[in-house]
Amino acid sequence: MPRLQFVIASTRPGRVGPSVAAWAAEEARRHGGFDVETLDLAEIGLPFLDEPEHPSEAAYVHQHTKDWSATVSRGDAYVFVMPMYNGTFTAPLKNAVDFLYHEWQDKPVALLSYTAGPSGGVPAVEALRPILARIGFRPAERSISVPGIADLTGPDGFRAPAGLAGELGGVLDELAKLLADTDAAPAQV
Ligand SMILES: Cc1cc2nc3c(=O)[nH]c(=O)nc-3n(C[C@H](O)[C@H](O)[C@H](O)COP(=O)(O)O)c2cc1C
Repeated sequence: MPRLQFVIASTRPGRVGPSVAAWAAEEARRHGGFDVETLDLAEIGLPFLDEPEHPSEAAYVHQHTKDWSATVSRGDAYVFVMPMYNGTFTAPLKNAVDFLYHEWQDKPVALLSYTAGPSGGVPAVEALRPILARIGFRPAERSISVPGIADLTGPDGFRAPAGLAGELGGVLDELAKLLADTDAAPAQV
């Protein structure tokens, strides 16, 4: 089974990212099409990019980069679980993406954004999508945006509004299809 990695893109104490990711990972297990893993950028603890060479050289000198490379290489597809900060994606997420290059190539990725405010993080998704395509990911067309996150999270975790599980199911189906299209593609000669 392909491995789907949920990446928690917020790192601050008290963040809600882990509760949103826990809900999404549970839904993905129920979906049944993936082995599911959650990667927490706060736990992974990358510094700001400190590799001397461009990541396309894969000439990593730091153990944290080699570890991050090995972790991401296990994944066949990704969902970035991302709040919007000041109108765009979080710095830790961009930094974690910038660390690597080959590891991301041709991998499907979907975005699950959330905000305190009414936008649900759509501007952050729109800002990140072309960057991911430029790096070589295959971004899913569908994404999920959750507004009013403060009212949906508490000590019991994330209470998904009606219909959100169905939306996530559609995204997971699209990721599965993108992966199937990869497998069906003729080998490059
Ligand atoms: C630095 C920062 C910037 C934020 N910017 C926005 C924003 O532009 N729009 C919005 O609706 N909420 C914004 N918020 C509120 C977040 O959506 C809310 O705090 C959310 O819980 C953040 O995700 P996290 O808890 O996983 O860090 C911001 C929060 C932080 C900490």
